[in-house]
Amino acid sequence: MIQTLRLVTNTPEETQAVGHALGAHAQAGDIFLLTGPLGAGKTCLTQGIARGLGVEGYVRSPTFVLMTRHHGRLTLHHVDLYRIDGAEAAWDLGLDEQLSGGGVCVVEWADKAEELFPGSSLWIDLAYCGSEERRTLSFSGGLRHHREALEELSADHLPDPGKDA
Ligand SMILES: Nc1ncnc2c1ncn2[C@@H]1O[C@H](COP(=O)(O)OP(=O)(O)OP(=O)(O)O)[C@@H](O)[C@H]1O
Ligand SMILES: [Mg+2]
Repeated sequence: MIQTLRLVTNTPEETQAVGHALGAHAQAGDIFLLTGPLGAGKTCLTQGIARGLGVEGYVRSPTFVLMTRHHGRLTLHHVDLYRIDGAEAAWDLGLDEQLSGGGVCVVEWADKAEELFPGSSLWIDLAYCGSEERRTLSFSGGLRHHREALEELSADHLPDPGKDA
């Protein structure tokens, strides 16, 4: 389990690089739960996870279709609960299939259906942070291999002490 760990990114490419590391280390059954306001970078992070999984082509936000599936080293299920109201409605989408299907599941706006997700999921909260392109990514929960993926990155992205406390 990850004690809350925080990284700062200064560009969309850096956020994608964080996602790439998570995707490259991802194991079957992994669930990444993304939270944070509109435009914080949830889809951007997912694009990196997809690349890290070897998914080819562009991953866009499934806000209107709610779920998309991409094929890489593992199948990536990308779910967006923005338009969903509560856990029951999320469950009615067939979310159990995405969560237990043996692929990797990324859920944007996961806080809308928090109670559906297993404790082994990695929560990632994205927040605006000062300048226009700066974001804080806060990680909690998750498994050992998630922490290993993040530790490789953290030296480059540690928050500036005193600025983001
Ligand atoms: N450090 C950063 N990390 C991620 N995105 C950034 C960063 N700096 C600027 N951006 C920009 O912020 C936007 C993030 O959009 P994105 O679609 O990923 O957000 P989102 O959290 O998925 O929003 P939504 O809630 O609408 O789905 C992009 O236009 C991206 O270029
Ligand atoms: Mg999005």
